[in-house]
Amino acid sequence: MKIKTTLGVAMLSILGAVNGNAMAAEKLTYYCSAQEDWCQLMATGFEEATGIKVNMTRKSSGETLAQLKAEASNPKGDIWWGGTGDPHLQAAEEGLTEVYESPMQGELHPWAIAQAESANNGTIGIYSGALGYGYNEEVLKANNLPEPACWKDLLKPEYKGHVQMANPNSSGTAYTTLATIVQLFGEDEGFEFMKGLHKNINQYTKSGSAPIKAAARGENTIGIVFMHDAVKQAATGFPIKVVAPCEGTGYEIGGMSIVKGARNVENAKKFYDWALAADVQSRSLEVKSFQVMSNKAAKSSPMAPDLSKLTLIDYDFKKYGSKAERTRLLKKWDDEVSVLSQ
Ligand code: G6P
Repeated sequence: MKIKTTLGVAMLSILGAVNGNAMAAEKLTYYCSAQEDWCQLMATGFEEATGIKVNMTRKSSGETLAQLKAEASNPKGDIWWGGTGDPHLQAAEEGLTEVYESPMQGELHPWAIAQAESANNGTIGIYSGALGYGYNEEVLKANNLPEPACWKDLLKPEYKGHVQMANPNSSGTAYTTLATIVQLFGEDEGFEFMKGLHKNINQYTKSGSAPIKAAARGENTIGIVFMHDAVKQAATGFPIKVVAPCEGTGYEIGGMSIVKGARNVENAKKFYDWALAADVQSRSLEVKSFQVMSNKAAKSSPMAPDLSKLTLIDYDFKKYGSKAERTRLLKKWDDEVSVLSQ
């Protein structure tokens, strides 16, 4: 009996080791640049669907691009999901992403495919959303401030210290803001706008959605963010009003890319196809992520900003997602705007 038990235990531990090894091979290192709760939902959803163990890191879009560059000679990530498309396009141009043509492409909106086409399938669009801003109605009233409705309203001296946006180097949201203002007003006037805005900024945050989270908590008044990020705070019950600026606005096509030289490239491809499925994309509503999803059959919420009703610029993703233009604009912002005193 004793012998049998010992043998049984030994057998079990051998089986365990075999299983353990098989499990160890089944993993995915996942870099995420959307909001933390959605990143987590995708990680657990994929683990549940496939049994593949996911190791997730959340960083903003520009930061993740910097990480991919730093790790290029010894890649650690497998898949990069979420965040604005411009840095994904730049990563593809710099050879930091794998080329992959997903069998799911036929289910997607043309704007999602267009991102893939302009990067020779080195990235793809997963969602889109328009830029704008939101403000805390109670904080605005308490400070006797007028209701802003346009981009140029944000330059008024009475908003000094009341506006927050992210740093365009780390954040895709803030880079989209810079590129939008340049496309909307022209480069010279656009940079004058950014300099004027700088006078009213209380803080440049690292992450794109932080300014509206701060506004929701009453620690800031106006946050320049994607409109869906402001809607999320309003839908959560905070006194946040969402603004589609009167002059028109830009938008993002959120990206997904497989890391070049990924150690778990087959699992990355599995994630890629899975993340493009309608039922997976529809789960965005569980975490109040109100982007327009790239799968045509994904569900949307009546609370989601209706992009067809907005005045959108014809955002030039190819140009503003290119290494040359993105690097040039960020350097110009660093040299001419961020250094100014407030
Ligand atoms: C939020 C938005 C996303 C956007 C992302 C960019 O999470 O919901 O639509 O892609 O910000 O993040 P970042 O921190 O790079 O601005």
